[in-house]
Amino acid sequence: MVRVGIVGATGYTGLELIRLLSSHPDVELAWLTSETHAGQRLAEVYPTTVETRLLSWQEVSLHREDVVFLCLPHGASMAAVRRAYDAGCYVIDLSADFRLPTPALYERWYGHPHQEPELLTKAVYGLPEVYRERVRGARLIANPGCYPTSVNLALYPLARTGLLSAPIIVDSKSGVSGAGRKPKLNTHFVEANENLSPYAIGRQHRHIAEMERVLGEAWQGPGTPDILFAPHLLPVSRGILSTIYVTLAQDTRPEQVWEVYQVHYAHEPFVHVLPLGQVATLRHSQYSNRCVIGLTPVDARRWIITSSIDNLIKGASGQAVQNMNIALGLVETAGLETGL
Ligand SMILES: NC(=O)c1ccc[n+]([C@@H]2O[C@H](COP(=O)([O-])OP(=O)(O)OC[C@H]3O[C@@H](n4cnc5c(N)ncnc54)[C@H](OP(=O)(O)O)[C@@H]3O)[C@@H](O)[C@H]2O)c1
Repeated sequence: MVRVGIVGATGYTGLELIRLLSSHPDVELAWLTSETHAGQRLAEVYPTTVETRLLSWQEVSLHREDVVFLCLPHGASMAAVRRAYDAGCYVIDLSADFRLPTPALYERWYGHPHQEPELLTKAVYGLPEVYRERVRGARLIANPGCYPTSVNLALYPLARTGLLSAPIIVDSKSGVSGAGRKPKLNTHFVEANENLSPYAIGRQHRHIAEMERVLGEAWQGPGTPDILFAPHLLPVSRGILSTIYVTLAQDTRPEQVWEVYQVHYAHEPFVHVLPLGQVATLRHSQYSNRCVIGLTPVDARRWIITSSIDNLIKGASGQAVQNMNIALGLVETAGLETGL
């Protein structure tokens, strides 16, 4: 059995990992950490039947070959990643701390210097459908952001054909769990309920860097993958729906574009391309590790692409389990079959 520990287990992504890993056939959940609730049982902190006692991170004895999932805010994750990596563990970081390739890019988007630039060079960006070969055997995996997962999977097949042109307009809506469990004014029930709020629109949101990184590596079209991004807070608990407006570089038959996606994702267990013209909705992916993509032609050049994921599963903890499975050579879908 693989020994697994979760740092920051009382947050939404940590709790989702506990749920998924509890039914993983190859995993033993060895320890869970919380700084605020160290010493208490998980069941005292969250309505669950899991009675495991929470440890503080410093109390944990790390074993070589353990898998350590880090579910901490960005900035707080770097030192913990260093400790787990130096102990010889496999490290899967769900924060943004190791997702960008250089310290300069990290500082530009996150506003503070990277504390572990040497470790950054060892990190693999864990989007399995694009970088599966890099993830195999990797000891430090940067789990992608939720919005970038929905957008990159929706655009990657087109980006590599040379058919896609910029700018690309991305309108995304996220459920409130995307903002984490810690209460904030804008996620307060009365503020969020029966409301729909855009935030950080244009070129402000940090996730643009991950979108342009992945699409830029595949990009064959004219110019660069310049993204205009409008994220919204949607008053549902979970789910992301991205509606993406694209213009192709040349006139193309609808069946040709649809076939590009069909062929590209034919063997992917967690990406589903809907029949031409059918739109993806939140319901298509909620509680699953699936990304569901809808392709709607508007005319010979313009398309609207819809992409749906569960932000806590394919957008975070499910993708992290998928990455662990690949890195360790386990069955890629193990522990993730629910809702397939
Ligand atoms: N929510 C999503 O949909 C989603 C999707 C993709 C990626 N992510 C990323 O995954 C990470 C975790 O997200 P989340 O939604 O699970 O967050 P969360 O619900 O706010 O939980 C984070 C946990 O980290 C611990 N923590 C908070 N501040 C800390 C600090 N300054 N230093 C050390 N520990 C601290 C807290 O646990 P204790 O106080 O009990 O220790 C808290 O329970 C974040 O980096 C987030 O950006 C989230």
